[in-house]
Amino acid sequence: MNQIQMSQNSSFSLISTKKIIQMSDVWTSYDSKNFALEGINLSIDRGTNYSIVGPSGSGKSTLLKLMNGMMIPSKGIIKIDYVTPQMNNKKFKKMMHTIGYIPQSLGLVKNISVIENILLGSLPRLTKVQSLFKKFPENEITEAKRIIKLVGLSGKEERKVYMLSGGEKRRVAIARALMQKPTILLADEIVSELDNVTAREIMELITDAQKTMNLTAIMVHHDMQLALEYANRVAVIKEGKKILEIGVEGDNIVDFQTGDMTTQEIMEMYSDDA
Ligand SMILES: Nc1ncnc2c1ncn2[C@@H]1O[C@H](COP(=O)(O)OP(=O)(O)OP(=O)(O)O)[C@@H](O)[C@H]1O
Ligand SMILES: [Mg+2]
Repeated sequence: MNQIQMSQNSSFSLISTKKIIQMSDVWTSYDSKNFALEGINLSIDRGTNYSIVGPSGSGKSTLLKLMNGMMIPSKGIIKIDYVTPQMNNKKFKKMMHTIGYIPQSLGLVKNISVIENILLGSLPRLTKVQSLFKKFPENEITEAKRIIKLVGLSGKEERKVYMLSGGEKRRVAIARALMQKPTILLADEIVSELDNVTAREIMELITDAQKTMNLTAIMVHHDMQLALEYANRVAVIKEGKKILEIGVEGDNIVDFQTGDMTTQEIMEMYSDDA
């Protein structure tokens, strides 16, 4: 963690870069009539696993789109590593490639191979000519093969993506994001629709990658239990508002947002939403 110490009247105050994502009173809309998100406040620590859970249409995907600059807020402040995520912001453009975004649809190119899809993650590091002709240098091919092994796709390097299972496609999407050497991974429902065993395998894979790469993972989930199992914090979104921010402490589920709800109250509140 980078830390800058400042002397102030002989006492010390600490400016820390611990927070990697900060949102303050963020509102956004797709049209002039309705807000998709209202008054969102959140603060995410570097290196943690943060989950977003909520009913369909509550604004989870919209929240991720705000974090990678695909959408801009109508009101409020967003900082990603202290930079405002807007495509016309030069600082953000420079750091954009360090945000690995896996959309709900995965965004894979189905009629090219596994390794070709994964290599796309290295495009920002290539020269213009290499990028134009998709001429990947040897070191990037070696790195892609290393990641293929890491995500458990050895032997399937040359297989076209449309020939893969749902779980395998998700592994390719994760591998392509890891190929970017990201500091932040945004994954939108990457384990929804998978069986329990495969979902946990994928979550373990992300947890391992997080530890080795000091990655901050922000993941949208449908399954509250799975979210609580893996995440340090879970934001619960309902009708565009963040209603809870919870996490497991010992045997209890704690609400860090209001700080005064019991585990039972939280579970009752969540079951009303589900
Ligand atoms: N491109 C769009 N144009 C207009 N409205 C949109 C658009 N995308 C989303 N919305 C609306 O914004 C709200 C939040 O949508 P969002 O996709 O963020 O929900 P979600 O929580 O991700 O849902 P799901 O669990 O079904 O993926 C919804 O009311 C949705 O209809
Ligand atoms: Mg969504």
